[in-house]
Amino acid sequence: MAKAKASYSCSACGSVFNKWSGRCDGCGEWNTISEDTGISAGPSKATLGNSKGKSVHLTDLSTEETPPPRSLSGLAELDRVLGGGLVPASAILVGGDPGIGKSTLLLQAAAQFARQGLKTIYVSGEEASAQVRMRAQRLELTDAPVQLAAETNLRDILTTLDQEKPQLAIIDSIQTMWSDNVGSAPGSVSQVRAAAHELVSFAKRKNIAIIIVGHVTKDGQIAGPRVVEHMVDTVLYFEGERGHQFRVLRAVKNRFGAADEIGVFEMTGRGLSEVTNPSALFLSERGQPAPGSVVFAGIEGTRPVLVELQALVAPSPHAQPRRAVVGWDSSRLAMILAVLEARCGIPFTGLDVYLNVAGGMKINEPAADLAVAAALLSAREDASIPAETVVFGEISLSGALRPVSQTENRLKEAQKLGFTSAIAPKGGKSPTVPGMALNQIGDLTQFVGDIFGAG
Ligand code: TYD
Ligand code: MG
Repeated sequence: MAKAKASYSCSACGSVFNKWSGRCDGCGEWNTISEDTGISAGPSKATLGNSKGKSVHLTDLSTEETPPPRSLSGLAELDRVLGGGLVPASAILVGGDPGIGKSTLLLQAAAQFARQGLKTIYVSGEEASAQVRMRAQRLELTDAPVQLAAETNLRDILTTLDQEKPQLAIIDSIQTMWSDNVGSAPGSVSQVRAAAHELVSFAKRKNIAIIIVGHVTKDGQIAGPRVVEHMVDTVLYFEGERGHQFRVLRAVKNRFGAADEIGVFEMTGRGLSEVTNPSALFLSERGQPAPGSVVFAGIEGTRPVLVELQALVAPSPHAQPRRAVVGWDSSRLAMILAVLEARCGIPFTGLDVYLNVAGGMKINEPAADLAVAAALLSAREDASIPAETVVFGEISLSGALRPVSQTENRLKEAQKLGFTSAIAPKGGKSPTVPGMALNQIGDLTQFVGDIFGAG
């Protein structure tokens, strides 16, 4: 047999190369390329199109099959993020920083599913069984009929799953799994990819739902190739800031439900507890109205969530002023600063700008633009926005404000939490919510004039 040609792939974007280089041509990342070992390059050209393959069974789109029932864990925050419970034979990837609480979450989920009657196996490749049992004891889960294994050899794990035929298997984590089909070390790109592929195809074939844990790297990618994300049905990220107790489970891809859905948990001494009213939690540490503080009425998945944005603007001692952002996109901040300068004549040159989303929440919605602008202006002008006002709206490069979706839900949530007025863009639907005064504004210049009384 001819020697397999070496191939190299990028752990950040999954591009494949036939020689190593320090920088990936696909995504521009440094030091992400490593050798794939032992993976066949697929059939040679000579075998394609000849009679060696067998023809696959084709069907039409109509179906008599009813969708299989989903299993609910009873953890409402988890069930919602999954799109309404666990789909049988689905493959789910749960990513997150080391130490954020993935193992805790999944042990609790395993116990819940097992208590609901699902045959559940939890395989830990990171901790010894005794350690997992101790954790279960602390979380008061020892009564749950979960079966536990501490193993990293994928072949042994698959053989066991095949014999035991569970309905749910949890693999913690993919970086510790080791497939003997691949020569490289556990955690390497080719191992992670091969192990994930074996697990996912096994799960589909044997009708087992499988949850795979994956650690993410510093810059937020699931270590190992992006292709793992493509293989699974659902990708969930478990996020949070160290030093804050709460954690957000976020769906970034879901073949069986809405992406962008979030579930909020609080890390306590006895594991994760569900937070049913996240807005109240995110606003709980809010003090008196202060310059730079603005409440943004956002939507996360199907739920409205209120969060506090905090900005600080101060003269900079540096030639190049600082722009520091926590919980929001820094290039989006640069855009808002540029629009404020170009369209409203409010420069931030020579000023350091800090922006923080309180409580460690991450916001991705463009609807936060106006709230960010309000926080920046309020910090710069040293003028507070009234405490009972929420702000939302997208800002375009021209300085015009664009209406955003679900205005009514945002207003209702704000009203529930005791807010009495909202600043929002003109246009779109303008629902009336009793007890909420809606101040609709057309562009950023008008906003600056109306709210801060100056240009
Ligand atoms: P863990 O689930 O081990 O994280 P991961 O699997 O993502 O690496 O969680 C570890 C952290 O959670 C650890 O710092 C301690 C904390 N923790 C609690 O605060 N309370 C608890 O009940 C448990 C089990 C963990
Ligand atoms: Mg863990």
